[in-house]
Amino acid sequence: MEKFVIKGGKPIRGTVRISGAKNAAVAILPAVLLADDMCVIENLPDISDVSAILYVMRCLGAQVRLINKSTVEIDPRHANSYVVTKQMAEGMRASSYFLGALLGRMCRARVAPPGGCNFGVRPIDQHIKGFEALGAKMTIENGMVDGVAPELRGASVYLDVVSVGATINIMLAAVKAKGLTVIENAAREPHIVDLANFLNSMGANIMGAGTGMIKIRGVERLNGTNYSIIPDQIEAGTYMAAAVATAGDITITNVTPKHLESIVAKLREMGAEIEEFDEAVRVKMISRPKKCNVKTLPHPGFPTDMQPQIATVLAIAEGTSIVTEGVWDSRFRYVDQLTLMGADIQVDGKMAVITGVSELTPAPVKAVDLRAGAAMIIAGLMAQGQTEVENIDHIDRGYENIVDKFTALGADIKRVVVPDDMAAYKQA
Ligand code: EPU
Repeated sequence: MEKFVIKGGKPIRGTVRISGAKNAAVAILPAVLLADDMCVIENLPDISDVSAILYVMRCLGAQVRLINKSTVEIDPRHANSYVVTKQMAEGMRASSYFLGALLGRMCRARVAPPGGCNFGVRPIDQHIKGFEALGAKMTIENGMVDGVAPELRGASVYLDVVSVGATINIMLAAVKAKGLTVIENAAREPHIVDLANFLNSMGANIMGAGTGMIKIRGVERLNGTNYSIIPDQIEAGTYMAAAVATAGDITITNVTPKHLESIVAKLREMGAEIEEFDEAVRVKMISRPKKCNVKTLPHPGFPTDMQPQIATVLAIAEGTSIVTEGVWDSRFRYVDQLTLMGADIQVDGKMAVITGVSELTPAPVKAVDLRAGAAMIIAGLMAQGQTEVENIDHIDRGYENIVDKFTALGADIKRVVVPDDMAAYKQA
């Protein structure tokens, strides 16, 4: 096991390059299974969630060749299995995308239910409803989700909740189905648009991605393609929040400023000076953050995946802020950890009342999930003295080279092997 050791209390300064978007990559890679030829995917983030997907692709029979750490060539032509076992899917939310991709490829899928971050109940009823509308018979047997269809036919699907995963899965299943599929009340996140652009670059016919209504006219064949994944909006937002938290001055490159609008708006409300360029953003903070209320919502609202990071900055703001979680039932589990560092936060259901304290104090804390882990790093960078963050495998799922990137910004952060493991390592 490893942990991060952070000596905080100084501003971060410099330039950081943002990697490809995790949540686009984990949809686009399974989508390669729909192609009838080789695909090259660029700007892939080097994170453990991506490695996990590539492992599943190999197990299914696809040929996967890493050209360099951000480019992969995948030949899906010989993929002949439709089973993603529990062992293959472990720890990865996006395993569910293999349901849509395999149904779309061979009208057959058997996939272990997704793992990923624990935010309370994470149902997939809207995914199932979509597959059934397209003609698949869905069952859950022996802990596996099973889908089979003689053929898939386009249909209208109205999503009862705006779901990123269901929108993506229905797109994957519909892209080669016969006729027209319409997804109403679809999610509008940038990675939905990226997936549609990827599929269209292979010859798919998808319109309306990025709006609440997506129309997919099924095609018979999808060609191979070369495609570069969009920059990670949440990784960018995390570094921006860290700059505001530490009164720093950083420039983040390889970003799409349009995807950062809601984050920029809130950080400006907190007093940050933010300059936007074509593919870069500069964030400068010279004062203590001001209080600010934040409510997370599906895109274009403030992203839930930035909620722990912004709440952590608000922990040292002047005044009392209210953060409301509008997407997940339970995404405040990290608050107990921040409290150990002296934060004053009261959680009531989906709402957190944050009374700003003048500073956080170091403490041993845990990453309870991916974004909560990023928030603990931000807290550690703010606190004078040494903070240790455990359970960092959560963070490795979604942040490429986080130690190197923060170190290049002048932070003192190290990855350290926890002694117990060292003993086991020596014995081996
Ligand atoms: N929901 C249902 N039924 C469904 C699907 C979802 O009720 O069939 C509910 C969920 O319980 C939740 C809401 O709808 O309350 C939104 O869930 P959504 O399906 O949009 O989430 P997801 O697809 O499982 C993705 C991201 C998450 C991100 C959410 C919301 C990936 C791999 N994961 O999850 O990202 O929080 O959308 O934007 O794309 C992260 O990156 O840290 C992360 C957790």
